[in-house]
Amino acid sequence: MKILLTLIIISHNAFATDELAIKKIKEFGKILKKELKAGLKKSPEKAVEICNLRAPEIQKQVSSEGVLIGRVSLKNRNPKNKPKDWMKDYINQFHANEIKKAYVTAKLENGKTGLLKPIRTMPMCLKCHGSNIDEGLYKTIKSKYPNDKAIGYKAGDIRGFFWAEY
Ligand code: HEC
Repeated sequence: MKILLTLIIISHNAFATDELAIKKIKEFGKILKKELKAGLKKSPEKAVEICNLRAPEIQKQVSSEGVLIGRVSLKNRNPKNKPKDWMKDYINQFHANEIKKAYVTAKLENGKTGLLKPIRTMPMCLKCHGSNIDEGLYKTIKSKYPNDKAIGYKAGDIRGFFWAEY
């Protein structure tokens, strides 16, 4: 009986809560921003390399304790950051300003919980996501992301979303 109960609890990730997911998202954002800033101090090209190599690594690092974490955008730079089906309606509602909460949660078909939290564009993001990107820098970006769509943003725009599944 004890074993059965434990199995049920594990299969439902009863320990993974919204709070834990938000904590992990914040950690992900904090590490990314810190490394991005350190990279930008060296050069924008260095910072692109960091986003390219480190973003997926940090994503894996913070995905633990039954919580998967990632980033998506309707205009994604990395093709892996395309929204999944369950996210699309929520994302459109956030962009239409129909959801004003800091984040939403959803029950997924597999019984898990999904969470989405918008990421706002800040002035420092425009160097690589704005409408006036340095030509040489954009060549570097395009060489790594030939199908890049993540440009033309203004400060304050929703650049994308952190997501969690647990
Ligand atoms: C030095 C250039 C650079 C700067 C500055 C930069 N980014 Fe990015 N950004 C990238 C690169 C490169 C990727 C692709 C990362 C990957 O492969 O996962 C990316 C990906 C993203 C993604 C994931 C969705 C997608 O488009 O693939 C989000 C969200 C994002 N950036 C938000 C921001 C925000 C918010 C800021 C400002 C705080 C910012 N970025 C600053 C280069 C940059």
